[in-house]
Amino acid sequence: MRFHGKKILVTGAASGIGRATAIRLASEGAQVTIGDINEAGLAETAKMMASTPRICTFDASDTASCRALVDAAATDGLDVLCNISGILKWGPSLDFSIDDFERILKINTTSVFALCQAALPHLIESKGNIVNTASTAALQGIAYTIAYSASKHAVAAITKGLAIEFASKGVRVNAICPGHVNTPMGNAAPPSGDVNWDLVMRNAPKLVDGSCEPSDIAAMFAYLASDDARKITGSLFTIDGGQLAG
Ligand SMILES: NC(=O)c1ccc[n+]([C@@H]2O[C@H](COP(=O)([O-])OP(=O)(O)OC[C@H]3O[C@@H](n4cnc5c(N)ncnc54)[C@H](O)[C@@H]3O)[C@@H](O)[C@H]2O)c1
Repeated sequence: MRFHGKKILVTGAASGIGRATAIRLASEGAQVTIGDINEAGLAETAKMMASTPRICTFDASDTASCRALVDAAATDGLDVLCNISGILKWGPSLDFSIDDFERILKINTTSVFALCQAALPHLIESKGNIVNTASTAALQGIAYTIAYSASKHAVAAITKGLAIEFASKGVRVNAICPGHVNTPMGNAAPPSGDVNWDLVMRNAPKLVDGSCEPSDIAAMFAYLASDDARKITGSLFTIDGGQLAG
């Protein structure tokens, strides 16, 4: 019960890692607000949680919607923000549309900054923390995944920069860098077109059965959000079955 009495906002909670994290944090006593664009998915998640969450639909591509989500989650204070919403689209760079590039940056990056910005006054009050979702794609170049990789490199930069800016106010900011996770995003169909699979498979996990389950990532969210991690800020935590080991 590390989060007894703690108020936590989890985005992307209608599916995958966000759902598993909401379930995990509620099981440890948190009062969780779950946010996502997928209302039906949020309702499903709520049924799986140990306590009834506050349910808020929002659109991460809309800054006003991000701010309204934080306002709703923080009516009686906020201790932790878990930024998990995200999208992935990949494919050969010569055919990749600029509209898709900009949409990925808006949802994966601009929204993270907007949500952090809105949450920080509350987190300064509570001496709370933020856990963002980056990716192994934040730590290396990945062929055919330029927009997503750029969006996650930027999340790493936001994480480290905010950690420095707000450390003296008692707010910690960290990010998790998952490798492949068994979720709808992680298992999405590959793009059509001219793809060299040798370039893609360079980053396969090294562990046998090295793909992660959403609950593996949720456990790391719970650790970083808790007081167990009180000396950790500005860190990027890889959980990838050894993908980046070499
Ligand atoms: N699955 C992987 O292999 C993997 C690896 C590294 C990082 N990640 C990151 O983990 C996070 C969660 O991904 P996942 O694998 O659970 O995927 P997922 O597709 O299961 O969940 C993503 C969630 O984000 C929500 N979302 C998408 N667009 C939104 C919008 N405009 N507004 C609000 N919510 C929106 C979706 O509705 C969905 O519930 C993402 O940030 C993703 O980039 C995933």
